[in-house]
Amino acid sequence: MLYEESMSGGQAHTTFEKLKICFLLTYLFMTETDREYISLPVDEYVSHHRGRYESLHRKSIEDADEFWNEHASILEWYSKWDRVLDDTKAPFFRWFINGKLNVSYNALDRHVKSHRRNKAAFIWVAESGAEKIVTYHGLLKRVNAFAKALLDAGLKKGDRIAIYLPMIIEAPVVMLAAARIGVAFTLVFSGFGSNSLAERISDCGAKVVVTADGANRGGKLIELKKIVDDAVEQATTVEEVIVVKNTGNKVEMVEGRDYWYHEVTKDQNVFVEPEKMDSNDPLYILYTSGTTGKPKGVVHGNGGYSVWISNTLKWAFNPQEDDRWWCAADIGWVTGHSYIVFAPLLLGLTSIMYEGAINYPEPDRMWEIIEKYGVNLLYTSPTAIRMLMRYGDAYPGKHDLSSLRVLGTVGEPINPAAWHWYFRTIGKSKCPIVDTYWQTETGGFIISPAVDLGIGSLKPGSATFPMPGIDPVILDEEGKEVPVGQKGFIAVRKPWPGLMLGLNNDPERYKAVYFSKYPGKYFNGDYAMKDSDGYYWLLGRSDEVMKVSGHRIGTIEIEDALVSFKEIAEAAVFSKPDVVKGEAIVAFVITRQGFSPGKEMTEKLKKGIRETMGPILVPDEIHYVGSVPKTRSGKIMRRVLKAVYTGQVPGDISTLENEASVDEIKEAIESLRAQTKR
Ligand code: WTA
Repeated sequence: MLYEESMSGGQAHTTFEKLKICFLLTYLFMTETDREYISLPVDEYVSHHRGRYESLHRKSIEDADEFWNEHASILEWYSKWDRVLDDTKAPFFRWFINGKLNVSYNALDRHVKSHRRNKAAFIWVAESGAEKIVTYHGLLKRVNAFAKALLDAGLKKGDRIAIYLPMIIEAPVVMLAAARIGVAFTLVFSGFGSNSLAERISDCGAKVVVTADGANRGGKLIELKKIVDDAVEQATTVEEVIVVKNTGNKVEMVEGRDYWYHEVTKDQNVFVEPEKMDSNDPLYILYTSGTTGKPKGVVHGNGGYSVWISNTLKWAFNPQEDDRWWCAADIGWVTGHSYIVFAPLLLGLTSIMYEGAINYPEPDRMWEIIEKYGVNLLYTSPTAIRMLMRYGDAYPGKHDLSSLRVLGTVGEPINPAAWHWYFRTIGKSKCPIVDTYWQTETGGFIISPAVDLGIGSLKPGSATFPMPGIDPVILDEEGKEVPVGQKGFIAVRKPWPGLMLGLNNDPERYKAVYFSKYPGKYFNGDYAMKDSDGYYWLLGRSDEVMKVSGHRIGTIEIEDALVSFKEIAEAAVFSKPDVVKGEAIVAFVITRQGFSPGKEMTEKLKKGIRETMGPILVPDEIHYVGSVPKTRSGKIMRRVLKAVYTGQVPGDISTLENEASVDEIKEAIESLRAQTKR
């Protein structure tokens, strides 16, 4: 029997033909992207030659030491490194050995001493329309004031703090203040719930949490302080909570533990000497989803990471001194860390930082901001583009978008329809689309068009070529390079400065996840293909990690959350294609004896997950079944579930413990479909 609370999609035909396994396996192995690109025109955008790109890339691979010696001088160092790369403890690669620097000095003091002193670092725009311009000089003052507050709280180099802030100026201020005194931070996306926050605080051992009374999003108030209170009850390392007054809603302050941000930063005229950090000291820890267990704490360092993100931003987007850069991601993801905060400030750029939803209060909010502030370089996600595209051309049509010069995307493969719309309707066929492929672990872009170096022709849906320093290869299951035009797993043959230092408290997991499938090569779980012109096509995840609206979510996290309810015995989670979000979350659950599934239970599960894990982890659909297909060793076969659910054939099911359960799911889906037809 199957109950269902919201039937969407429904394109399944459920033909369960075991006989055609060969053909069908191949088909299953292809993603939507594969099927689409096959029919695409090729030379859509032609600009300059790739001459400089090719020679630079070649040099970066052939003589990495000399290349990085030269490119690390994009930053100012207190003392130079003795060696570029130490790979003696591979796969724990270390860059710029014994080099000393401070990231906040490079992002602020260095510019304040130059012609950029009074240049806007951020133009902050609130959802309400309010704006704030913060100059480099002003930002440095704020950072010093907060660095002093952290020192006053007893923090010192090597300690850790957690940041749970929305898109307000205090977020970069706190990040930079921590970097200034050598405290590593973990910034947790403000859309995560209390359990997710507690888990991250505990794993990194944060002594202080910086949060706000609330956040504005889509016209709603999110009570962040309450979530922190719940999380701090579970996470015992926290001694102090510092609260930014942002929305002005009433919050409970715990005597002796909670302090107002504006009170601890009263003195704005202080100077805190930047710590001389080792290149390989940690800068931050950012948690990201994997295929098993808890989220992984990806650790990025001071030197290599900063060198990598500043160079890649420059190569890919070619920002000019007077440009206005808008990275429309949230600061809670790696895109926000690298390309809202650190790289633009290291390069001395002016960034737009927008607090709210890009379609609020009207669907033209993004276009209005571009026109009002004269944005030159825009960087957003395919999901955002697809969403805005659905509102129609009239919305961008109301605005003068002629300031735009380069358009970027990140987070998931961009489908050609969205690419074309972005290129024609937004960029008026004159702005290259910079499709940047990378991951939390890679620090910055690893495959992307490089406008600064000459991009040649673009192909819609291809991230084009590796950044200098990146030596990718596409391999089959056994580690053999696949022929041109064939799909395989992407791996990187050489280390690069932006690669994470490791996983927090878990060196074994770091080796096992990234360096055991192909010894000596970095493996990241993505499918890719290289075409006969040498272009790389990223073809989605090969594992059980989903990309929902560009957010990286492990099926395991939602399954764990579901089975933590007393009503649920087992859960299997997978994603289905979604025209806007790319992927949408579907859960199949088995209830425990004595509990009856239905609308009420679905509401309870969704509400519970929203509160403890956060809204982005709430499944779009929850279905109740009697069993889920498993292998003989007891692993849930999500691939089979997904295939049956989306109307494809589930491929090889010989390892299934119990084929009847597949039939049961098939039956359940058919009955569901019959119900919705009525
Ligand atoms: C996917 C986001 C195709 C990929 C910066 C990767 C992409 C995962 C692209 C990392 C792209 C990111 N084309 N797929 N341009 N960019 N991905 O860690 O599957 O949140 O492994 O980092 O996003 O997600 P993460």
